[in-house]
Amino acid sequence: MKKEGRRRLRRVVLVPAPFQGHINPMLQLGRILYSNGFSITVVHAQYNSPNPSTHPDFSFIPLPDTSSDHISTGDLVAFVLELNAKCKAGFRECLAAEAMRQQGSDDGIACIIYDDYMYFTQETAKDMNLPSIILRTISVSSFLARNALFQLKAEGHIPFPESKTHDPAPELYPLRFKDLPLSIFTNLENFLQVVSIVSDNKTSLAIIHNTIDCLENSSLAKIRQQYQVPIFPIGPMHRIASASSSSLLEEDISCLAWLDKQSCNSVIYVSLGSIAFMDVKDLVEMAWGLANSQQPFLWVVRPGSIRGAEWIEVLPQGFKESIGERGYIVKWAPQQEVLAHGAVGGFLSHCGWNSTLESICEGVPMICIPCFGDQRVNARYVSHIWRVGLELEGKLERGEIERVVRRLIVDEEGNEMRKRGKILKERVELCTRDGGSSNNSLNKLIELIMSF
Ligand code: UDX
Repeated sequence: MKKEGRRRLRRVVLVPAPFQGHINPMLQLGRILYSNGFSITVVHAQYNSPNPSTHPDFSFIPLPDTSSDHISTGDLVAFVLELNAKCKAGFRECLAAEAMRQQGSDDGIACIIYDDYMYFTQETAKDMNLPSIILRTISVSSFLARNALFQLKAEGHIPFPESKTHDPAPELYPLRFKDLPLSIFTNLENFLQVVSIVSDNKTSLAIIHNTIDCLENSSLAKIRQQYQVPIFPIGPMHRIASASSSSLLEEDISCLAWLDKQSCNSVIYVSLGSIAFMDVKDLVEMAWGLANSQQPFLWVVRPGSIRGAEWIEVLPQGFKESIGERGYIVKWAPQQEVLAHGAVGGFLSHCGWNSTLESICEGVPMICIPCFGDQRVNARYVSHIWRVGLELEGKLERGEIERVVRRLIVDEEGNEMRKRGKILKERVELCTRDGGSSNNSLNKLIELIMSF
């Protein structure tokens, strides 16, 4: 039962990690809980701060000393370690102030839900006698594969030689060694140090995953054996939540009018998410690959995402003239609306988990070019388990890009994937309805929070 606008039940404090792909599901979860009667307070880092004006019903509290002036943001793994060390004291103060502010009101703090990357939360919650719940924003299959890295290392399987790249990773079907969710930001030791902290659950009472039973049934069964607390697959959150943007960059909505002029299923949408980077050489190959495919394309080039360039000033001479009106480039798109547009026939994606779910929800088949970490696992599942996408392997090369775009948009192969995508979309939709698995998990989560 939705309780938007009614008297609030209890307050839930959310602690998102300061990355776009983590802020989105956390605020979506906030919207879901808000529409079920809870008050929402978001305690967040100042770096990549969410915009409070897009969620006027929520309270926002910035953590002290967490801007990029205080923490170096270059190496993601080092950033996570430093952020957690910096946040501890400030978080306690934020919570104490919030508890004071809520004193005497009906909606006192019931619990804290934190992104697993913000693990400092767990200890403070315990010290303050507040129940805590973890939100994991990657797929369960990626999470399991990441946990398996310890065993693979102990058995001497990783680091692995070039010759084993395409060999199956032991006990991780359908993954090959090259699909393992390894970091490109740091060495194996540092990465495993963070993974071991993030995967550990000392005191949290439940774990929420932004996933869907019909996509990850067997991985969910496995994870339930590894953790002794309830696991709630509540996804796709962007579908269950009322629509609201949490974009850190301004969405260029002019691309929707451009899409209106294109024919059905003809456009390839290209975006590599919020963190991945490219070299100028790759940008040039991508540009000519898209141009030579002769298909219309909508391409998101995030400012600063091309090493050594501000934006697209490094595109080759003659490229713009050669594409004319057939290509449209933006800095940031309203992605969910783009994927829902009938003109979009395919998504060339880095396979971040949010992008993967958003594409599956619209039945849009994908060309997968995973860059690092969990994206590699997602790409393998998209292409080999759900079979709604093709993986572009090897280097970005214009001829390959041209061919793969045509395979997906023009050829029968792509059409078959679009048909499978439509069926998968319908199955996912059923999970979010009354009696569906995500809906049931949500009801159990609400019951649990109300029991605190
Ligand atoms: C990062 C990791 O790369 C990813 O693997 C992990 O699962 C989450 O954190 P990110 O690069 O941000 O993710 O990708 P993704 O998970 O796909 O999230 C990107 C979000 O930004 C999506 O919700 C997408 O809709 C949104 N987006 C992207 C836009 O709104 N506009 C754009 O132009 C591009």
